[in-house]
Amino acid sequence: MKQAIIIGASSGIGYELAIQLAAQGYQLGLMARRIERLNELSELLPGEHFVQVTDLVDTDIARTQLASLIDVMGDVELIVVNSGVGASEKKLDWNVESQMIDVNVRGFTAMSMDAMNHFLKRGGGHLVGVSSLAAHLSGGLALTYHATKAFVSNYLNGMRSRAARSRLPITITTVEPGFIDTPMLETKPIGTVSVEKAVTQLVRAIVRKKNHVYITRRWIIAAKIIYILPNWLIRKFV
Ligand SMILES: NC(=O)c1ccc[n+]([C@@H]2O[C@H](COP(=O)([O-])OP(=O)(O)OC[C@H]3O[C@@H](n4cnc5c(N)ncnc54)[C@H](OP(=O)(O)O)[C@@H]3O)[C@@H](O)[C@H]2O)c1
Repeated sequence: MKQAIIIGASSGIGYELAIQLAAQGYQLGLMARRIERLNELSELLPGEHFVQVTDLVDTDIARTQLASLIDVMGDVELIVVNSGVGASEKKLDWNVESQMIDVNVRGFTAMSMDAMNHFLKRGGGHLVGVSSLAAHLSGGLALTYHATKAFVSNYLNGMRSRAARSRLPITITTVEPGFIDTPMLETKPIGTVSVEKAVTQLVRAIVRKKNHVYITRRWIIAAKIIYILPNWLIRKFV
């Protein structure tokens, strides 16, 4: 049986991903802070699954929790690092900014690094990291969020080079969503799509072992345009 771990499975993209991967026959390890949501999800899914509470802010503890889940499950071939925090940055507030850095950068790096070391030991595997379209531009209204996601995309690109150098069958997939209708979105801007539609495209990219995917696919146009627009114009919107 194929085994996968989803870090950040209690809500939104991770929750729907669990539903769609379980339907494809995966046995899952579900991680996040809200254990009651993970237990509910595990009950809802077909088959037997594993649940592990974790808070990426406590990075050292999260690392031991991921390691023990990998050990207990047996042969994990896919790890999705999906946990992320996005919050209103209308006021610059260190509590908000530091939580974003802790989860989106520190926690993300620790989970990705440990996943990679597991795949190197195992002789292959697949790491999926959830970044954002926000990685492609600086944002005056959500500056730390944009910067953390630029880190995520850059880091995964570097990890892909490392995987290639290992000569092992290790795939690194960078996921850059646009607007997806999940609890993270405070409003529903034009172009927001349902989480079901977004995750269907994500699962297709996972099955095809893609290096990179925009979800939904049409955001590729926005990503290209961003690079030709002058900064003074971008600043009017973000
Ligand atoms: N929705 C969008 O439009 C959009 C766009 C671009 C990128 N993304 C990215 O997509 C990913 C998933 O977001 P979403 O939209 O599905 O939002 P969401 O519904 O708020 O889900 C966020 C997930 O991250 C987990 N998480 C948050 N803080 C955590 C912590 N300290 N430790 C461990 N897990 C933590 C949450 O679990 P607990 O709270 O239970 O810990 C939850 O499972 C994020 O990386 C986000 O940046 C989303």
